[in-house]
Amino acid sequence: MAEFEPVLMARIGKPDATSLASYQADGGYDGLKKALSMAPAEVTDIVKASGLRGRGGAGFPCGLKWTFLPKDHPGPIYLCVNADESEPGTFNNRVIMEGDPHQIIEGIAIACRAIKAQTAYIYLRYEFGKSYRVLQNAIDECYAANLLGKNILGTDFCLDVYLHRGAGAYICGEETGLIESLEGKRAWPRIKPPFPAIEGLFRKPTIVNNIETLACVTHIVRRGVDWFRSMGVPPDPNNPRDPGSFGPKLYCISGHVNKPGCYELPLGVTARQLIEEQGGGVWKGRKVKAVVPGGISMGFLSADELDTPLDFSGPGKAGCLGLGTAAVVVIDDHTSMVDVLFNCCRFMAHESCGQCTPCREGTDWMRKILERIRSGFGKSKDLDLLMEVAGSMGIIPGTTICGLSDGAAWPVKNAIKKFRGEFEEYIAKGMKSELPVLVDAH
Ligand SMILES: Cc1cc2nc3c(=O)[nH]c(=O)nc-3n(C[C@H](O)[C@H](O)[C@H](O)COP(=O)(O)O)c2cc1C
Ligand code: SF4
Repeated sequence: MAEFEPVLMARIGKPDATSLASYQADGGYDGLKKALSMAPAEVTDIVKASGLRGRGGAGFPCGLKWTFLPKDHPGPIYLCVNADESEPGTFNNRVIMEGDPHQIIEGIAIACRAIKAQTAYIYLRYEFGKSYRVLQNAIDECYAANLLGKNILGTDFCLDVYLHRGAGAYICGEETGLIESLEGKRAWPRIKPPFPAIEGLFRKPTIVNNIETLACVTHIVRRGVDWFRSMGVPPDPNNPRDPGSFGPKLYCISGHVNKPGCYELPLGVTARQLIEEQGGGVWKGRKVKAVVPGGISMGFLSADELDTPLDFSGPGKAGCLGLGTAAVVVIDDHTSMVDVLFNCCRFMAHESCGQCTPCREGTDWMRKILERIRSGFGKSKDLDLLMEVAGSMGIIPGTTICGLSDGAAWPVKNAIKKFRGEFEEYIAKGMKSELPVLVDAH
């Protein structure tokens, strides 16, 4: 990995890195100029050929998603930029928004050129005050330099970018919840189909992309497809549905490590490498008990699964939901998995929007069972009951509108399966949590 050269984080920390002048001195907006010299479909073809997969959690191929827009649509077509970033443990979008905002705005402009959108909305998590100020300043600089607005750089391409501060809920990051919220409504996810590419914001064709995905677009157009595909993991020849995992990735690492932070690495680094090399090892000389591979909604890897590659298919092969946001949270061997799981369930129960009965009731039922267990009153049948509830909720069993429910079920399924002995002992001995029993917000 020694030869890997960071790109997405390369300019972060340089003096004046957020200014347009400094960005342009480093070749900034050359990618946009290149995209403006091409037909929109050619730009889409480049992104498609790169194999870029969405960095927001689902890993859907980016260029392919752009081709789902109706052909020759008279418009308007919208780009919604997902900067809600509320998955626990995830802060990679914030790092690049605060540290190098122009690479994101350039990616937005290139994407809009490709999909023929003239309006983009950045939906920003409300709590990100610094990101808001830095991004708005970068947008203002672009308007003054004719990199946004009418007839950009003397071409027929026009683009307005609006920064919209979010409503402060996890569900606002789900793409159709985000669209509802942008329209001024409660962020209740929509039933799909129709998918946003056909009927999205204001019922018009819409693409939703994550901040990091769009930052990658900038560098793909500037440096080329071969550069992007030179990093990562090729498709699995035994799995025709695996498009591979190419490019650099921003991995967040937090929890019980010596050096928490955001690190840029090629896709496919193992959890062990990340913890030991970037994270500086587990704190206080302790051992790993469990690792969250990509936000809590992905579930857990156990200590003997640390050699799992953190590409788009690795965590799934180890029984997790997927790579998610690549936000790795390390849990040491002094920590109770009962407390960890209770915390996950409490979060999901609080964040469920309540539209679907299996999610609304299931998340809170799981929270209540775990609260009983950690209060010392668990019953031997509770573990099977938790598994039954978790197995009946989500898009995967086909009972809910959105993936929040799957993300609530997976930590439960993984924890009970991989750490069952610890839960059984806890219940059998009537152990009690050392942490305070929390009064629930509901
Ligand atoms: C409950 C929930 C929360 C989500 N939160 C985010 C988020 O904060 N940021 C994000 O980019 N995607 C989030 N997603 C995924 C989006 O729905 C969508 O797949 C993504 O923004 C698409 O962008 P990409 O293709 O560039 O990854 C969330 C999904 C779910 C189910
Ligand atoms: S799955 Fe949960 S969060 Fe998603 S729409 Fe249904 S109730 Fe709301």
